[in-house]
Parts: sequence; C-alpha cells; structure tokens
Amino acid sequence: MDNFATYPSLRNKTVLITGGAEGIGAAAVELFCRQGSNVIFFDYSESSAAKLLKHIKDIPGAPQPQFLHCDVTNLDQLKKCAEAVLAEHGAVDVLVNNAASAGASARVPTAGVTPESFDQDINVNLRHQFFLTQHIVPSMKKKGSGSIINMGSITWRIPATDVPVYTTAKAATMGMTRMHSREFGESGIRVNSIMPGSIATQRQIDEVLTKEYEEWTLKAQSLKRVLVPAEVARLMLFLAADDSSAITGGSHVIDGGWVGDT
Ligand SMILES: NC(=O)c1ccc[n+]([C@@H]2O[C@H](COP(=O)([O-])OP(=O)(O)OC[C@H]3O[C@@H](n4cnc5c(N)ncnc54)[C@H](O)[C@@H]3O)[C@@H](O)[C@H]2O)c1
Repeated sequence: MDNFATYPSLRNKTVLITGGAEGIGAAAVELFCRQGSNVIFFDYSESSAAKLLKHIKDIPGAPQPQFLHCDVTNLDQLKKCAEAVLAEHGAVDVLVNNAASAGASARVPTAGVTPESFDQDINVNLRHQFFLTQHIVPSMKKKGSGSIINMGSITWRIPATDVPVYTTAKAATMGMTRMHSREFGESGIRVNSIMPGSIATQRQIDEVLTKEYEEWTLKAQSLKRVLVPAEVARLMLFLAADDSSAITGGSHVIDGGWVGDT
C-alpha cells in the first residue's frame, strides 16, 4: 500500500460507486476510503456489502463508506438512491459507473439471445450508466467540476464471442463516454472509461478463471501474471484526481498488454 500514490485532491471528495460490494468496485471503495474520500456505494448484495463495511472498519484512518441497497436495473430505485445521495451530500464529485454482470445467463451465443435477455443484459451493463450520469451531472454542473468513470471492457477488442450482449454494451460505453465528455466538458466535467482485461476478482476466480483460461490470458498478455482488482482501482483514483485534470473522453485500457491500446 505504501508504495502507491496519495492524491490530496481526493481527500473529502464525495465519490459514488455502483456495484461497490465486490470485485473491482469493492477495491475502489476501499482505495477511495484510504484516500480520505467520502464514499457511497450502491449494490444489491447486502451480504457482500456488510463484509466490505466490516473490512474497511478495521483500516486505521479510513473513513467508513456508506452503503445504499440499489438494484441498478430498476430505474426508479436508481433515481431514488441518487436523490438520497444528493439530498445528503449536495453534490457528487466522482461517479464510478461500475456495476455489471456477465453471468451464466449472458453466456449464450447470439442465436440464443431473446428480446427479454437482451434487455436484461443491456440494463445491467449499460442503461444504468447513462441514467445515473443523467441524475448526477446537474450537481457537478453547479460546482463546475466532476469526474465520471464508466467501466468498459476489452471484450469487444479481443473480440470475445461468448457474451454477445455484454460485449455490445461494453463497446457502447466507449461511445457514450466520448459523447458525454463533449456534452459536459464545457461545465468542467471530465468523462473517461476504463477497459480492463482479465482481472482476478473473486467471481472471476470462482466462475471463469480455470487453469486453461488463465493459460490463454497469460499467453495473450505481455505481462505474464494475473492482474488484480486494486490495479484497476488505482487507475480510477488517477482519473478521479486533479492529477488527470486534462484527460477526458478517453477509454483507458488496463490489461497487462493484451490489446494494449485504446
Ligand atoms: N473482472 C474482469 O475481468 C473485468 C474485465 C473487464 C471489465 N470488467 C468490468 O469491471 C466492472 C467490475 O467488474 P467485476 O469483475 O468487479 O464484477 P463483479 O461481478 O466481481 O462485481 C460486480 C458488482 O456489481 C454488483 N451488481 C451486479 N448487478 C447489479 C445490479 N443489478 N444492481 C446493483 N449491483 C449489481 C454485484 O453485486 C457486485 O458487487 C464491470 O463493469 C465489468 O464489466 C471486469
């Protein structure tokens, strides 16, 4: 931990992270707390959120984050949770649109996709990013600043073939990011996306990272080691901090050199 940067500009900033109870989102919640940020996270997993809250309680000096139960596919709930955050904190300085799912139901070839499963996969991987941004941006506009980070993926660059709708959504995130950076740039709001490669979250380890998959990814990467969630969260810190004040509209690959560029 001591080898990594502390960003004075993140101290006391209000940071909202979706899907913050597990995986990359949980690493982000922890690292923003360690920076002294005021972190709120949305998730629908109460049990994972409780575990994370307990873990952060034991970190000396880290402020406790706030958890709000929210299924991001439910737009009414998403709006209510966003309104609750704005009512309590006034504005959000950093929004990390991170929640997503490429679970078993998304792992069907195109022939097996139905209109219902298509909507579900788009809703969990893309739609909430757009609408939470819509809810939060007015508070950023009032302040004349803000950083939005949308989680994409290299999946459409590899390209993967086993998660067609997830892959479609993640490609759309890049376009949405560029468009929002244009739309909100004149208000001092920066919008970037992050495109991770294979990151060994607990879910990946449990569901995807078989020995064969690991061999395949390590062969594809320049770096011959498994990448971990905190490495992605540290890129989030940089994109949220004033240190990246001129960086917007980009999609930043973090994949150990698999596709290597945007
Ligand atoms: N792990 C990887 O290898 C990888 C690769 C590329 C992109 N990504 C992207 O990084 C982001 C984080 O992925 P991860 O691997 O940490 O995922 P994860 O599955 O480990 O965690 C996702 C979190 O989102 C929450 N979530 C899922 N659906 C939700 C919903 N409807 N409402 C509220 N919360 C919900 C889950 O409860 C969980 O806490 C995602 O956008 C993902 O697409 C991850």
